[in-house]
Amino acid sequence: MFGSCYSSKAKHERYGMDTYQGLLAHWLSLVRHTPLGVICDLDGTLLPFVSTPSESRLPPGLAVKLSELAALQGLLLAIVSGRPREDLERLLAPVPGVWLVAEHGGWRRSTGAWEATVDRQPRDVEPLATRLGQIAASVPGALVERKTWSVTFHYRLVPEPERAAMTVAVDAAIEEYLAQAPGFERLEGVKVFEVRPSHMRKSIAVTWLREQLGAEARLLAFGDDLTDEEMFREFGVADESVLVGPPRRSHARWRLADPVAVAGLLDWIAATRCGQAEASPQLPEPLTTPLCGAGSIRGRYELLIVSNRLPDLRRATRPREAGRKRNVGGLVSALEPVLGARHGLWLGWSGRITAEQEPGPIGIDDELRPVLAWMDFPERWHRSYYNGFCNRALWPLFHMFPQHVAFVDSEWDCYQEVNRAFAAAASELVLPETPVWMNDYHLLLAAQGLRELGHRGPLGLFLHIPFPGPDLFELLPWAEQLLDAMLDYDLLGFHTAAYVDNFLHTVGALSPAKVSDDAVEHRGRRVRVRAFPLGIIPASFQEPADRAVADEVDTLLRAITPSRLVLGVDRLDYTKGIPERLEAFGRLLELHPEWRGRVSLVQISVPSRADVPGYAEQRRRIENIVGRINGEHGEGAWVPVRYLYRSYSHAHLAELYRAAAVGYVTPLRDGMNLVAKEFVAAQEPKEPGVLLLSKFAGAAAELRDAVLTNPWQADGMARDLDRALRMGLAERRERHRKLLAVVSQTTAATWAEDFLEALTACG
Ligand code: UDP
Ligand code: G6P
Repeated sequence: MFGSCYSSKAKHERYGMDTYQGLLAHWLSLVRHTPLGVICDLDGTLLPFVSTPSESRLPPGLAVKLSELAALQGLLLAIVSGRPREDLERLLAPVPGVWLVAEHGGWRRSTGAWEATVDRQPRDVEPLATRLGQIAASVPGALVERKTWSVTFHYRLVPEPERAAMTVAVDAAIEEYLAQAPGFERLEGVKVFEVRPSHMRKSIAVTWLREQLGAEARLLAFGDDLTDEEMFREFGVADESVLVGPPRRSHARWRLADPVAVAGLLDWIAATRCGQAEASPQLPEPLTTPLCGAGSIRGRYELLIVSNRLPDLRRATRPREAGRKRNVGGLVSALEPVLGARHGLWLGWSGRITAEQEPGPIGIDDELRPVLAWMDFPERWHRSYYNGFCNRALWPLFHMFPQHVAFVDSEWDCYQEVNRAFAAAASELVLPETPVWMNDYHLLLAAQGLRELGHRGPLGLFLHIPFPGPDLFELLPWAEQLLDAMLDYDLLGFHTAAYVDNFLHTVGALSPAKVSDDAVEHRGRRVRVRAFPLGIIPASFQEPADRAVADEVDTLLRAITPSRLVLGVDRLDYTKGIPERLEAFGRLLELHPEWRGRVSLVQISVPSRADVPGYAEQRRRIENIVGRINGEHGEGAWVPVRYLYRSYSHAHLAELYRAAAVGYVTPLRDGMNLVAKEFVAAQEPKEPGVLLLSKFAGAAAELRDAVLTNPWQADGMARDLDRALRMGLAERRERHRKLLAVVSQTTAATWAEDFLEALTACG
């Protein structure tokens, strides 16, 4: 739908003849990069389709090209296919050094033997294979291919008139099998039906190459099939993906017409890395999924949500995948049903950074749930707006860390530009009457831009971080201007009554607007100002984990057994008070040596905003403290602190929360802190752990029955931790009962509903 409407005019404007050199420079920087991982699908990408898989042959010329590529220093070539191992071994025998991934990621082979990546029994899919075999026996041309854990039904050779009846029979067999075989899924390929274990994906190749090549690596993938989208979705901003074949909706960013063009490009890559490339190669054409003219979409959606960060495009789901467990944050879980019910659309940054000066065209995918629209950011936006004004000015100022702020004129200019661009994109996507809900500190000025563009519908902003009092807000050189623009919203939402008060005091101090209890009168309009505490979806932290997750968490927990678990979970951010928390844990071991060998702190720190000054420094500081505490206090088999610099899925977190004696949630300042609520939801009511919560988290306003602590004082926090660890069962149960009642009552869903109700009431 949208993918096919890329107009040659737009292409010319973005990458036309005058920018061919720019495009070439872009590709040269990728193909000269070391280490470089090149991933190619086989059928339809390197080899044209033939009637039956066994007829395929690797043309000798292509074999030579691939061998040259595979032999290059600093480049790794991997062929990734749905085919079984024997086929890949046969076809790629003339290409030494190539890495292979067979059966959609089920098997992989580098230089040694094949390794299986799937924890399933081959017999699991046998009943379906037998049933499909029976169907194939009565359909001329049909072929059933049995792989280790999956089964494929090929119908390329089935005459057209036979296909309708065949499809009905195959569909029924597959549906019946899937109904009693959780953990399996159906795939649509090119003239094939396939059923495979659901976690067996070609994206395994992407993770594998990244692990082997390290964080500096860039990846380039080629693929034509829907299963190749699994790889494209995993790609980061520094990687490139090329769809092979006619244009279609895709997560790939580029397109080549056919396997001949792929061979040409691979040839050019090999030559370039040997310093002998031709000057004007045939490069892939950009394949964005741009908006097909505002007329085709405006009026289609009844609500627009805008946030800088979108749900992960790579993990967003399509309807046929609905019901599968997904790794989404509270915001996504909350907004998804609301958007669905109200026929809404969600706009934000794609997470990709382009080498262009201007943002890419708006992309939109109306098959995703929720429906997403996005912009790619030019590098300068990422630098000056996101890393700059958002995360070096507003984030530290609003969290009351003036020592971290940097106010730079050009970054403020860029912030204004990006807010105008979001406003312009929003007004392209929806009618002037449609309610628009903006989120967070990235978009404080967007209502102003929308009003200038003639938007008449209700405009709301929810701020997901704290709002400071006037003394601090006034440090901002553009304080009045920013406040004035915020008052162009109809509704301003904050997590707590304290932030509402801070906002109203700030308006009172710095603006001519008239302030009342829950509103501000300004320029003849009334701006409602209210607290809407964000919650979670408790049930999603109460489900038992599936086996793979439980096993992984068990392994982690075995490492600390028999100690009791004290658990910290945060993005690595100076507002989270991780060094202070570690120091207090160290103090506990000094003040109460009886805990030595009996408690362990597991601190999960999710990498975040690593390019922003202050964050890398914070990481070094944390690593030093962990090293010091372990060095000073560790003994024999007991390691006091386990520090994990990575992220876990909600399913993993739920298991860890449940296993913890203490949820150690001690930010120096936090808008809300959802981890605190997730910890409460996940506890086993008969044997709950204790929540030790900072007074300075927004969540403390609701979770009064946590053990509240002051993270600015190590001795006090150590005392509170000791108290939490010693708390008796009756008190733990009683506190947990009250906390759970709060967490169950004000959820992500009630938050979204309340905000939307207030927003539509402004219309
Ligand atoms: N989170 C996650 N995986 C991790 C660590 C955290 O999915 O490894 C999630 C966590 O479950 C929570 C969110 O990230 O939903 C963090 O939200 P919070 O309000 O605590 O802090 P923020 O990062 O928004 O400042
Ligand atoms: C906080 C902010 C969000 C932001 C998130 C992750 O929760 O309120 O707006 O999306 O942190 O930060 P990032 O910079 O990675 O989007």
